[in-house]
Order: sequence, then structure tokens, then C-alpha cells
Amino acid sequence: MPLMRLAYASEATFEDKPVNQGVEPHVARILLTSRRNNARSHLVGGLYYGDGRFFQYLEGEESDVLSTFERIKQDERHQNIFTLMEGPLESPTFTSWSMKYVPLSSDVRRFLERNGLERFNPSEFTESQCEEMIELIRQSSHDQKLVNHDEETGGANSRPQAFSPGLRFGLMAAGIALLGALIYAGSLL
Ligand SMILES: Cc1cc2nc3c(=O)[nH]c(=O)nc-3n(C[C@H](O)[C@H](O)[C@H](O)COP(=O)(O)O)c2cc1C
Repeated sequence: MPLMRLAYASEATFEDKPVNQGVEPHVARILLTSRRNNARSHLVGGLYYGDGRFFQYLEGEESDVLSTFERIKQDERHQNIFTLMEGPLESPTFTSWSMKYVPLSSDVRRFLERNGLERFNPSEFTESQCEEMIELIRQSSHDQKLVNHDEETGGANSRPQAFSPGLRFGLMAAGIALLGALIYAGSLL
């Protein structure tokens, strides 16, 4: 089966949620799905998100890349999807990354500065800028932790806890001590 590679640019339709740690919640959800699905169909690549825009690179078997891209194009979390490159590939260039995520990093800022670009706007990348961006994702040592923000912010699935973890531990220890005392007292009768 022939291999191919594909890169596109798009604009996020959601409002950026500021987070203290980890990846923006919408992007984190996209990454979870991507990693699960891409691993299944042996696709590799990278996703970059910054300034409300996406840059994604995918490589794998032609039919898998094309069917995944068809699904991605239907996704309402982004719009103005613009294919930057699409073509055959001789051998894989990304190893074992179902979807590598690169955050807005100093590497990307340096790349923008080098190219005299004020903002991250991948739909205007030239072919060589596109190649440079792919290489940057390939070489990046960043891999931010995916945080379950739904749990953190008390989303629909998380139940409120009546006691703090420390208090719960204390109550449990007191219960065990009381039980021990009762058993001991019982053995004395
Ligand atoms: C910017 C962006 C990138 C995405 N990348 C991928 C991807 O690489 N692989 C994938 O399976 N889904 C990707 N998705 C998600 C798909 O659009 C779609 O929601 C998903 O494949 C549905 O999978 P499911 O049927 O397993 O829930 C992406 C979505 C967005 C907005």
C-alpha cells in the first residue's frame, strides 16, 4: 500500500480557555481521540496549536490518511481548513508518534522571528516554511501532559466530595483504632 503525507492549516472555532497546567481542554480532547484512532490505523504525525490556529501533519497509508482527513474536515471545532501539502512518501519520517503535540514554544517563536512573521498563521506558510514547521515538530522534545480539566474543574462527571482527602484518611484511621479497641476490650471479657 502506498504511503502519503499531508499537512493542513485551520482556525479553531472555540474560545481559548486559559489553563494553569497542561494543554488547552478542547485541544486535549482532540489529542486523546487522535492518539486512540491514529494508533489503531498506524498513522503518525504532529499537531501544533497557537494563536487560535492549528497546523497538523499526518503520514501513513494513503487510504488511512485520506479517510482520517475526511473525518477531520467535518469537525466543527475548526474551520477554514486549508491543505498545505499532500503527496506520496517513500518511507516513514515520524517514529512512534500517533499524534505528537507541540505547544506554543520558544522553538516556534524563533521560527516565526526567523521568517519575519508576527503571528502564527500557517495558512500563509510557503512550502519551505511548511517543511521547517514539520521538522520543528519532529525534533521537538516538548510533550505537555494531557490534564483532565473536566475533573479538575468539577465537570458533569465528577461528584462533589464531602470531606477532604486528609480528613477522610483521619476518620478512617480513627475508625480502625476504635475497632481494634473494641476487639481488645471484647477479648478481656
Ligand atoms: C484540529 C483537529 C485535528 C484532529 N486530528 C485528528 C486525528 O489526527 N485523528 C483522528 O482520528 N481524529 C482527529 N480529529 C478528530 C476528528 O475530527 C473526529 O472528531 C474524530 O476522529 C472522531 O473519532 P471517533 O468517531 O472515534 O470519536 C481532529 C480534530 C481536529 C479539530
